[in-house]
Amino acid sequence: MKPTIAPFPAARPRRVRQTPAIRALVRENTLTPDDLIWPVFVRDGVNIEEPVPSMPGVMRRSVDLIAKAAKEAWELGVPAICLFPYTDPSLKTEDCAEAWNPDNLCNRAIRAIKEAAPEMAVMTDVALDPYNINGHDGFVENGEIVNDRTVEALVKMTLAQAEAGADIIGPSDMMDGRIKAMRDALEAEGHQKVMILSYSAKYASSYYGPFRDAVGASGALTGDKKTYQMDPGNSDEAMRLIQRDLNEGADMVMIKPGQPYLDICRRAKDMFGVPTFAYQVSGEYAMIQAAAQNGWIDGEKIMLESLLCFKRAGCDGVLTYFAPAVARLLND
Ligand code: PBG
Repeated sequence: MKPTIAPFPAARPRRVRQTPAIRALVRENTLTPDDLIWPVFVRDGVNIEEPVPSMPGVMRRSVDLIAKAAKEAWELGVPAICLFPYTDPSLKTEDCAEAWNPDNLCNRAIRAIKEAAPEMAVMTDVALDPYNINGHDGFVENGEIVNDRTVEALVKMTLAQAEAGADIIGPSDMMDGRIKAMRDALEAEGHQKVMILSYSAKYASSYYGPFRDAVGASGALTGDKKTYQMDPGNSDEAMRLIQRDLNEGADMVMIKPGQPYLDICRRAKDMFGVPTFAYQVSGEYAMIQAAAQNGWIDGEKIMLESLLCFKRAGCDGVLTYFAPAVARLLND
């Protein structure tokens, strides 16, 4: 279809922009709390809420306070939460065994949230980086990130999270073959209902910097993640990876980062029509907060606009650190 528009004065497109009522009637996309997944950082201890310096407004919380915050977010209408552990450096090893410890921080937080807000969907991140001495998402052998041995470890991690009560598994590691391996293991172990939201198109991005501070991985990381995360110049490759993950058993897919990759979101939704999510990552969040704190932009308005644009680009929802704040604004 070629867009046409009748010549002036027969058509006056401004007619449908006259008033808030008419604009609301013709609006094609809207943002609601239903669209939000809240990523949170959990740390050890009791009754601790510690700010992340490079992410103003974001906290690392102990398990008890994560459960409390999850309940509050659920009551504001946020349907899902996604957990990231800030692991004590003493628990980071080369074999990453803490990743599948049934009582690790993440698994304790899953149980606590399930008790505080049983209906809230709990999502996890599957990758070895919080537990790896060198900060990589996979095992390192002779300076290389090895695929198949990493996938075996990711499967153990997945099963431990499912046992703890996770509803949605979020593999963010970008290894090959992991979705099939995880799906097979979940089926075999009685976790048929556990969903997989695959970080299918995850780019080797510089927008993750503040996150790596938040989980304490910045100092640890040796080298970069370019042999497993995608090249920011590629778009066809993202479609191939989404296709592959769907074939292997993913229920939902993610594009990450978010705002600079809206073209990928739109293409993915048009091509596959499956539940599609974007991650408004830590760097995007930090940029908005920094400019807002300086009074250079209106933080609240940009927060709402940036999230609405994900909907317009075809996303069904967004992982955003703004989730509770947005839900509060939208409810008012
Ligand atoms: C780890 C992981 C990362 C993020 C989510 N999961 C960082 C990375 O790949 O280095 C980034 C999230 C953000 O920046 O907000 N596998």
